[in-house]
Amino acid sequence: MKTRITELFGIKHPIIQGGMHYVGYASLAAAVSNAGGLGIITALTQPTPEDLAKEIAKCRELTDKPFGVNLTFLPSFNAPPYPEFIQAIVEGGVRAVETAGRSPEEHMPALKAAGVKVIHKCTSVRHSLKAERIGCDAVSVDGFECGGHPGEDDVPNMILLPRAAEELKIPFVASGGMADGRSLVAAMALGAEGMNMGTRFMATVEAPVHDNVKQALVEADELQTRLIMRPLRNTERVLTNAAVERIIEVEREKGAATTIADVREYVVGAQNRRVLHEGVMDAAAWSCGMVAGLIHDVPTCQELIDRIMSEAEAIIRKRLEGFLAAA
Ligand SMILES: Cc1cc2nc3c(=O)[nH]c(=O)nc-3n(C[C@H](O)[C@H](O)[C@H](O)COP(=O)(O)O)c2cc1C
Repeated sequence: MKTRITELFGIKHPIIQGGMHYVGYASLAAAVSNAGGLGIITALTQPTPEDLAKEIAKCRELTDKPFGVNLTFLPSFNAPPYPEFIQAIVEGGVRAVETAGRSPEEHMPALKAAGVKVIHKCTSVRHSLKAERIGCDAVSVDGFECGGHPGEDDVPNMILLPRAAEELKIPFVASGGMADGRSLVAAMALGAEGMNMGTRFMATVEAPVHDNVKQALVEADELQTRLIMRPLRNTERVLTNAAVERIIEVEREKGAATTIADVREYVVGAQNRRVLHEGVMDAAAWSCGMVAGLIHDVPTCQELIDRIMSEAEAIIRKRLEGFLAAA
């Protein structure tokens, strides 16, 4: 498939692996890129810009294909040293950056001066238009289904993607709820030029997470995610577990008065890593999309991407074309 997204990033297939905290290491990014998609290293998972530089170098040893880096702009008093992270990206020769969270406006001059292609991930049409206005090359439109932070508007992709198509001039990929060839064809029918996946890529052989996490994704159905931290306007979609049930109880008790201090012990990074890296499944809340209901196996990234592309082709050439022929 050739789309404006494959052209922009110089990739074979219009499939991107979204940034994932404590998951987006070089091993996964390289596996996705080697399979013809765009793998993405998550910058803030690395403790320092120097560590990010090393992770980029490692990824370059593992693949000669293009890969990117995710930069998540957090609402934080103690902001990470973003200019230094950008310097590591630029000096590492990375040509694609997925930004997320707050607007990347302040950092666009540095990224553009270095010839970096910027795809901003956002959960609304208005934020997508802002991204276009400030010079982003593409947008990743993240629907309400998504794992991680779906924003506060709660618009699912069936509406959000065609709305984005009505308004945007720059290309966009569909993000949230994407799992297979059906997702890709549907996303493209709604106006996207590719898709971004998070949760699905966690259940792959190369994903550097504990087998318990991969097994939980295979076993979960589409009813098992929950939204937490809504009273903080920092909503996150996670897979339910004991920690999540506790957070929901606290939020029910305290309502709008809930503060981050009330839930911190269940969402803090160290506990999140115990789940993802050590497989202690009730230690903390962890991001997971409704798409868990469509995950039934743990393939390699190559198997997954090959399967998506052949399934997409079969749907277009046989199933859809077949309906026209029948008429
Ligand atoms: C475990 C996990 C961690 C994530 N961490 C980040 C992150 O640090 N930064 C970010 O921009 N998006 C993050 N995301 C969101 C993904 O990049 C992607 O937008 C989302 O997973 C898409 O929805 P899906 O899970 O339905 O595919 C995370 C998602 C998951 C599942």
